Amino acid sequence: MKQRTLIVGNWKMHLNVQQSSLLVSRLHEHIAMHRDIEVVLAPSLLSLQPISLEIDRRKFRLSAQDAFDADEGPQTGEVSFAMLEGLVHYSIIGHSARRIYFGETLQQVRDKMQACVRNKITPILCIGETKQERLAGETRRVLHDQLTTALTHLTAAEVADLVIAYEPVWAISTFQGEKSRPSDMQQAFVYIRDQVEALYGAKAAQAVRVLYGGSVDAHDAALYLELEDCDGVLVGAASLNYKQFSEIVNQAHVLNIKRKND
Ligand code: 13P
Repeated sequence: MKQRTLIVGNWKMHLNVQQSSLLVSRLHEHIAMHRDIEVVLAPSLLSLQPISLEIDRRKFRLSAQDAFDADEGPQTGEVSFAMLEGLVHYSIIGHSARRIYFGETLQQVRDKMQACVRNKITPILCIGETKQERLAGETRRVLHDQLTTALTHLTAAEVADLVIAYEPVWAISTFQGEKSRPSDMQQAFVYIRDQVEALYGAKAAQAVRVLYGGSVDAHDAALYLELEDCDGVLVGAASLNYKQFSEIVNQAHVLNIKRKND
């Protein structure tokens, strides 16, 4: 583990502004500040602005869940990365829900990555195979295609700063929600780093943060976090529950202390 452990809560399309605000105040009460942990909240777009005024930025960072790749224009109903600059530190890009429900293509994800970086926001790029692809033995090909296309226009320094979340679609609670075996995930993390190394060199591959996402909760978060190449977790459903989410943060901290003392 080279950097702080990253714990990201993706609230997806849940919680209105008042509910988001309530969850933030509960998280403030239950999560202590840890220098070894970075906690990131990804509420709905609508809640970002009010929450940005409520959070202690030393404790929490904000992430968007998506944005549009052009900086401005006639795209009615969209919000650009340019508009989010200064408000969020991160943005999730290419989440499987975007790819599946909205037909987001590899090229659109690539353009969003470029727009995100252009506007000084760090991407949390989501990649992962569906159940059919896994059963057909296509996991590596899918990860390779999603990764190489998404990174096309980025420099090695930009890639080094980026976050890549491996989220097998079949393990996400809102799709099949099958529990993955934590130890099986390590090979995907290694494959992702190998791909980054082949394209951008060893320095970028070492620095890039790789997260796991897919039905992570307080019962199994530590099993993923203790994997050698896992730099954190991207949590969906369990991040809506302040007890579960706080517990995940706490476990990550305990694990880091244990590692330090070993
Ligand atoms: P769940 O933790 O609900 O499976 O969601 C994972 C996810 O999609 C986070 O981005």
